[in-house]
Amino acid sequence: MKTRELGTLQVPALGFGAMVLSPGVYGDIDDTRAQTALQAALDGGATHIDTSDAYGPDGHNERLVGRALKGRRDEVVVATKFGLAIPDGEPSRSYPVGYAFNELRVNADPRLVRRYAERSLRNLDTDVIDLYYLHYPDPGVPLEETAGAMADLVRDGLVRHIGLSNVTADQLRAAHAVHPVTAVQNEWSMWRPVDPELLATARELGVGLVAWSPLGNGFLTGTVQRLDEGDFRHNAPRFSADNLASNNDRYAPIRTLATNLGISPAQLALSWLLHQDEHVVAIPGSRTPAHIEENLAAADLVLHPDTLSRIDEALTRFEVTGGTLL
Ligand SMILES: NC(=O)c1ccc[n+]([C@@H]2O[C@H](COP(=O)([O-])OP(=O)(O)OC[C@H]3O[C@@H](n4cnc5c(N)ncnc54)[C@H](OP(=O)(O)O)[C@@H]3O)[C@@H](O)[C@H]2O)c1
Repeated sequence: MKTRELGTLQVPALGFGAMVLSPGVYGDIDDTRAQTALQAALDGGATHIDTSDAYGPDGHNERLVGRALKGRRDEVVVATKFGLAIPDGEPSRSYPVGYAFNELRVNADPRLVRRYAERSLRNLDTDVIDLYYLHYPDPGVPLEETAGAMADLVRDGLVRHIGLSNVTADQLRAAHAVHPVTAVQNEWSMWRPVDPELLATARELGVGLVAWSPLGNGFLTGTVQRLDEGDFRHNAPRFSADNLASNNDRYAPIRTLATNLGISPAQLALSWLLHQDEHVVAIPGSRTPAHIEENLAAADLVLHPDTLSRIDEALTRFEVTGGTLL
């Protein structure tokens, strides 16, 4: 697969987001199916795997990724995150979001950063994390202080590159002044524009962008008509029965554009993202090898400038109902 640069780190244009492989996220999954999906992703060239200590109970997702790395660790860029899976007895602070009962609990105290990293290394069964992100900024801790503790992990060889997730341009700038940031991971997709100031700052500083939920939590594939029980998207207003129906109607012109190009809506959504900036990569998630193969084929698509203009025009008319996740 074509590669791209996030700062000084080379990764495939499309990686793999492993969150979907833990129970309690998108519905039915078990560890056997999860391993099949991870191997399909790696075999297909998605050798940048994104996980977090907060996906699944007790580091479940990291442990899945760790098992998939056996015998092929050197092929893979392993990215994980910290700050949400707070050790027992430690305080937490509220970070407001548009799902999960409107808040996450965070703790990015520099005092805990090494402990988080050592736990992730154990879960991943590896001796180094290639890209280590702060998952969400902690309103109670200056970001520079967390970044300082992350820089210590690089100095001591536990981590190769540092990243930030869900940050603003100012927060990126502040952390980058402490230690070079390799990548910012924020939500970015056809139905969730990236903050232009963040994009401009990342470009100026030479920081790469990793687009999370690049398929709009599956919506942009055009295949989500209803949600099963236990699907976390029940917490996201864009997926309430009424909003989902109206959003699907409004998205129809973009699905038609994909059909006319002879590609799937998922492929159009991913390819569109890769055309937004040469330093953006996407990390779609899937439990299904056929979907994974379909998605990864999008890395090689080249969209004509006229097509991109038609998409952008269609997106300006695509009014999403139901607010945003963040
Ligand atoms: N930093 C953060 O705060 C943050 C937050 C959220 C997510 N993330 C990262 O972003 C990654 C991806 O996000 P995500 O999983 O939320 O959303 P996503 O990649 O936008 O969508 C995943 C959903 O799309 C479906 N799907 C994928 N390919 C498909 C295809 N070709 N056709 C039909 N359906 C398809 C999957 O179902 P199937 O399993 O049935 O294919 C799954 O339900 C996560 O794994 C995580 O690494 C980061």
